[in-house]
Amino acid sequence: MTDIVVVDRQGHERTVAVEPGRTVMEAIRDNGFDELLALCGGCCSCATCHVYVEHGGDALPPMSDDENDLLDSSEHRQANSRLSCQLPITGETNGLRVAIAPED
Ligand code: FES
Repeated sequence: MTDIVVVDRQGHERTVAVEPGRTVMEAIRDNGFDELLALCGGCCSCATCHVYVEHGGDALPPMSDDENDLLDSSEHRQANSRLSCQLPITGETNGLRVAIAPED
């Protein structure tokens, strides 16, 4: 298992243990954070799984053009914005810290 830290929109944080092979979106959704809508189910077509990567971003894959285009549609995009459904959990992502971005 890999531990990641999730910060909700109220600033409360919780460490969750995740099976490698899942995505950060699945880890957030499956651990009771109901703020992350993830409407498209991880197909990279909705941008409702937007998070800010606060720590550990070096362990994540580079952003695809599709992810970049979708993030451009968000009013809340920041330099550390990612779509959590595009972020795989691996042995390298232990200690990753993400905050759920505001809803668009
Ligand atoms: S869940 Fe829709 S883009 Fe990530």
